[in-house]
Amino acid sequence: MRRFWINWGRWKLKVNLDPIQAAKQKAALEAVKHVKDGFVVGLGSGSTAAFAIEALGERIKKENLHIMGIPTSYQAFLLAIECGIPITTLDEHPEINVTIDGADQVTPELNLIKGMGAAMAREKIVAAASKLNVIIADQNKKVKLLGENNQVVPIEVLPFAISLAKRKLVAIGGKPTVREGKGKLGPVITDNGNAILDTYFGEIKDPAELAVKVKMIPGVVETGFFIGLTDIVYFGLSSGVEKIEELRK
Ligand code: A5P
Repeated sequence: MRRFWINWGRWKLKVNLDPIQAAKQKAALEAVKHVKDGFVVGLGSGSTAAFAIEALGERIKKENLHIMGIPTSYQAFLLAIECGIPITTLDEHPEINVTIDGADQVTPELNLIKGMGAAMAREKIVAAASKLNVIIADQNKKVKLLGENNQVVPIEVLPFAISLAKRKLVAIGGKPTVREGKGKLGPVITDNGNAILDTYFGEIKDPAELAVKVKMIPGVVETGFFIGLTDIVYFGLSSGVEKIEELRK
């Protein structure tokens, strides 16, 4: 599929996108409106967040916007550089004005599963350091309960702990599988040098409770549960964008 840019108001839009990609882009274009001059911005990972990074690059060029980005993965880092977004670190800027990121599932309470791109550890650290967290997604990510539609929960574990963590996850009702790489034999290795256990729990009635149980397993670095971290979600639809807001106190 060829992609190219057209001007749409003050934005450049990629056209010839399939409907899902177009929905992701619409959500991203709404989300970047939260970014103001002088902001430190958390840059999420994944295909939807990539649209936001590109749109921020466009705003820098068009509006002479001065921002700094804190990427949540090497993917986000490389794309931000390509788009001309100056990079900073959490050490230099411990408080982030706004983070824009994608998600794999979103409930009406704005609880999330993230991590199908294996970036959830840094994503969660950046989200926890942010005053405002904006999630962008196409509407297929909308669910009533996390774990619907056979969705797994990505869990990052130290390689040394893989066998123990698998056993403990089974003991709390999970079905873990070590995520395998594409274009590389063996396990996926995260940006932090760890493995991912994609764990199926079925439909999850109490994700906050399960998240604590999983996090207590020795060797678990982070889970894909994002509970109570999200302020605003934009769902890209074929007809526009749906906004759901649940500002944290
Ligand atoms: C990265 O690890 C993830 O948390 C992504 O943000 C999430 O998987 C959404 O990715 P897409 O926007 O590519 O669906």
